[in-house]
This record gives sequence, C-alpha cells and structure tokens, in this order.
Amino acid sequence: MNYHVLTLFPEMIEQGLNTSILGRAMEKNLITLQTTNIRDFSENKHMKVDDYPYGGGAGMVMQAGPVYKAYQHVREQVGEGKSLRVIYLTPQGNVFTQGMAEEFAKEEDLVFLCGHYEGIDERVLEEIVTDQVSIGDYVLTGGELPSMVMMDAISRLVPGVLNNDVSAEIESFHDNLLEYPQYTRPEEFMGKKVPEVLLSGHHGKIDAWRREQSVIRTAKRRPDLLKEAVLTDQERRLAEKHVEDVKRIE
Ligand code: ADE
Repeated sequence: MNYHVLTLFPEMIEQGLNTSILGRAMEKNLITLQTTNIRDFSENKHMKVDDYPYGGGAGMVMQAGPVYKAYQHVREQVGEGKSLRVIYLTPQGNVFTQGMAEEFAKEEDLVFLCGHYEGIDERVLEEIVTDQVSIGDYVLTGGELPSMVMMDAISRLVPGVLNNDVSAEIESFHDNLLEYPQYTRPEEFMGKKVPEVLLSGHHGKIDAWRREQSVIRTAKRRPDLLKEAVLTDQERRLAEKHVEDVKRIE
C-alpha cells in the first residue's frame, strides 16, 4: 500500500505514522508514505496558498492552483494511466466505516488531500477528488488527523501488517458485532474473577460464550449495528432482551 498525502503539514503526518505497528510496516515496505507539501507549489512570491473567499465571509480558502499542481506531482509518480482514488477529508463527506477501510485496503495507491482554513476552491475538488470522507460529526482544524485515522485503520488490513491475521477478522465491527470482553492474568483482580468458561479449555463453549457476549454488548452499546448483523433467531431474541429502553427511543 502506497500512501500519498497532500498537506501543508507534512511533518505532522510523518511523525504521526512513524511509530509502533505502522512504523514497522513501513520498515518492511508493506506500506510506503510520501508527503507532498502543497506550499511548495504556491504561485506567489510569499509562498501563500490561500486567499479571501469570493462573495465575502469569514476565513480564507485554499487556492485551486497549488492543490492541483501538488496532485499532478503525485500523479506523475504513480503513473498517468493508473486509476487513482483521491480522498478529500471533510466533515461534509461520507462517514468513515470499517467497510470503507476494507474497500480502500484493496487499492495499491491512495491519495489523501488535507484541507485547512475554510476549505478548498470547489473547482479543484471537482477536478481531482474521487471520495469525500468525514471521520465523524465534529469539525477539526484540518484534514491531517482524519487522514491519519484512515491510514491507521486501512493499514492494519494490509496483509502482513498485523502479526495475527485472525484478529482482524474477529474484532469489533466484523459482522457488525462488537468484540467480546477480553481477560488476561491474574485470574482474580480486585475480587473479580475471570469468567469460568474461559478457564475450561473447552473451545466450543468458549466460542459460544464469546459470540453471546458480542451480541449482548452490541445490543447494549450499539443497537444501531444490529440491523446489519446476521443473527440466528435465538441471538435476535437475546439481543432484543438487552437493548436498553433509552436506546430504543432514540
Ligand atoms: N476536516 C475537518 N473536520 C473533519 C472531519 N470531521 N472529518 C474529516 N475531515 C475533517
């Protein structure tokens, strides 16, 4: 997976992704990261990349020219012929989900366009952007953190990035269920014991208990996910029992 990030703050992206699992994945070349500073493509002697909005209003707007040239720079490196997803991070986009992460993880290259100020001139967005994505209904100061959130979620789905491939399959949101609770040593902590079944060594019973816990947890915390979950009749009834009344009204 090759990430290309168009940004005014390349060091924020580089430092943010350099550590831990993603850092290791980059060392192993499973992931590459190229940042392009939009400011390097400024068309003005003060290296400015923003200007006042036509029609007036608060704030500044990023100009189309530098963004387009920064994109062309990336385009040349990827190869002109290849189709290329260009993701613009904006609170106006589709809200990012695990399903979208799975979809994007299939690509060989991804371009992230990070805006600042009051946004980017609409004309260049129309020209280059294929996907507009939001990471949730709140407004951040720029697209850098959202792009990092997306790269983190996508990277762990790239084969070889996580040491254990199974964990990506049984974790939260797979099958639209939240993950079951986990325990490790000691067997007793502050008077609380690890559920007996987990010590039984009986894998069939353990799997059944975990599945049940996933259903109950999803019903209690995220009943909205149950619409898309594939459940047996018995699991549906179990879920129904645990959906809290407050959540039902929402
Ligand atoms: N830019 C500012 N806020 C954002 C958000 N919530 N998601 C994606 N990009 C953003």
